Parts: sequence; C-alpha cells; structure tokens
Amino acid sequence: MERWRDRLALVTGASGGVGAAVARALVQQGLKVVGCARTVGNIEELAAECKSAGYPGTLIPYRCDLSNEEDILSMFSAVRSQHSGVDICINNAGLARPDTLLSGSTSGWKDMFNVNVLGLSICTREAYQSMRERKVDDGHIININSMSGHQVPPQSVAHFYSATKYAVTALTEGLRQELREAQTHIRATCISPGVVETQFAFKLHDKDPEKAAATYEHMKCLKPEDVAKAVIYVLSTPPHVQVGDIQMRPTEQVT
Ligand SMILES: NC(=O)c1ccc[n+]([C@@H]2O[C@H](COP(=O)([O-])OP(=O)(O)OC[C@H]3O[C@@H](n4cnc5c(N)ncnc54)[C@H](OP(=O)(O)O)[C@@H]3O)[C@@H](O)[C@H]2O)c1
Repeated sequence: MERWRDRLALVTGASGGVGAAVARALVQQGLKVVGCARTVGNIEELAAECKSAGYPGTLIPYRCDLSNEEDILSMFSAVRSQHSGVDICINNAGLARPDTLLSGSTSGWKDMFNVNVLGLSICTREAYQSMRERKVDDGHIININSMSGHQVPPQSVAHFYSATKYAVTALTEGLRQELREAQTHIRATCISPGVVETQFAFKLHDKDPEKAAATYEHMKCLKPEDVAKAVIYVLSTPPHVQVGDIQMRPTEQVT
C-alpha cells in the first residue's frame, strides 16, 4: 500500500456502512480520501474520529447526491481545483427499494437505477478523465457490487436491485476491456459481498424495522470492515495484477 500514500481516493456513500469502513481503512493507510454522501454530518464525524486517532491520511467530507449528475460533476470539479484529481474511485453508494417487478413503483426503480447504475457510471467516467488528464496510469476503479449481481435472489423485493447489480458486473468487465483498448494500466475491480450488517436492510424495509433486523439475526453476517479489507487487498496487489471480482459471503449464507 506504500505507493498509494498521499494519493487521492474518492469513496462514494461514505456516510455509513461499507463506505465509512472503506474510507477509514484508506485514511489509516495514509491516503487522502474524499468521502461523499448526502448525510455529510456522518462523514464529518468520521473525519474527526480519524484525526483524533492520529491516522496518517485525511478524510475530506463532501455533500453529494449521486442521483444528480450536476452534483457529481461539481464534486469532481471541486476535487480538481482543490486537490488535483482522483487516483482511486470506490463506487460504493447503493440502495435497494422494495419495488417488485409485478407491482413496484417506477419511482422506486428509478431511485435504484439512478444511484446503483447511472451514478456509478458517471463517477467512473469522471474518475477516468481525471486520471487521463494528469497522466495517471496506475489508477484503480473499484465497484462495490453484490452476490445479487451474480445470482438472482429468490426474494421478489430484491429483483430490480439484483438487475442493477448485474449491470455493475457488466459495467466492471466492460470498463476493464475499454481500459485495455485505451492502452492504460488503470485497473477495474468489483467486490461482491453477500449479507453485510449495515443500515441497508433498514432502508429497504423502512416500513418494517423488525423484518430489517431479521435479515441480520439468523446468521453471523459480514461486517463492513471485512469488505474494507478486501478493498485494501485489491489495491495492494502489484500493478501487473488485475483482480476482476471478489465474491465473499458470510460462511453461513446459503443463497
Ligand atoms: N449490506 C449488504 O448486505 C450488502 C450486500 C451486498 C452489497 N452491498 C452494497 O454495498 C454498498 C454499500 O451499502 P451498505 O450496506 O453500506 O448500505 P448503507 O449502510 O445503507 O449505506 C449506503 C450508502 O450509500 C449512500 N447513498 C445512497 N443513496 C445515495 C445518494 N443518492 N447520493 C449519495 N449517496 C447515497 C448512503 O449515503 P446517504 O444516504 O447519506 O446519501 C450511504 O452512505 C451498496 O452498493 C450495496 O448495494 C450491500
């Protein structure tokens, strides 16, 4: 990880769960991290925590709604003017809404698609352009995918979400191919966790907190830190190693 010291990583969805754990782990490794989300107060608290822990890197909170292209573009332009540009982009922000294919609302589908697919793609394009304009040839784009991006879960509330994560599988491999065509050494990876204990299920089942809690009660789930360790592993591989996907489930998870 030594080569990443003082380089800049953008972590989307850094206000909680996996994104906060990834941001913290990168600051511990001495990186400059721009952490973005809508609930910027949480990221400010995490930044203060990292500072008082004496971690070698810094966390810079940024308020951004990833379903809004203008917000994303102004964030990249602020990073360009204040910190040069992005060397690592961790596309982590994501959500699920309980909108089934047979009777779900179009607005719920749009909420998922706009962040999980479009926001991720806009951040990827802007991060790549930022690397190219500064002749950064060793950058890395990491997408936080899901096991639902490889298998359709047998739960109707997760079907549209699963489709957005299948898109992330295709987008990561398509990106890898375009990066080779462009003759760069920038790498593209996705990490595909099974159930991770975060606020994710509470937002999916926001009208039924007991159902949300049950998601995490019947097995020993992954922790956000387990996913953060996978991110650190992927980044710490030598530049000639291109990890495509890491699939990781709780040991007790069946589907
Ligand atoms: N938890 C799981 O079991 C699990 C399993 C597999 C994959 N994943 C994936 O892991 C990633 C992180 O999820 P998590 O479990 O950490 O969930 P989480 O605790 O709900 O965190 C989601 C993050 O995404 C951000 N986000 C959502 N909508 C946003 C928007 N419009 N603009 C900006 N940020 C937005 C949230 O920030 P704000 O709300 O503050 O904006 C928050 O920081 C997601 O891509 C998810 O699909 C999760």
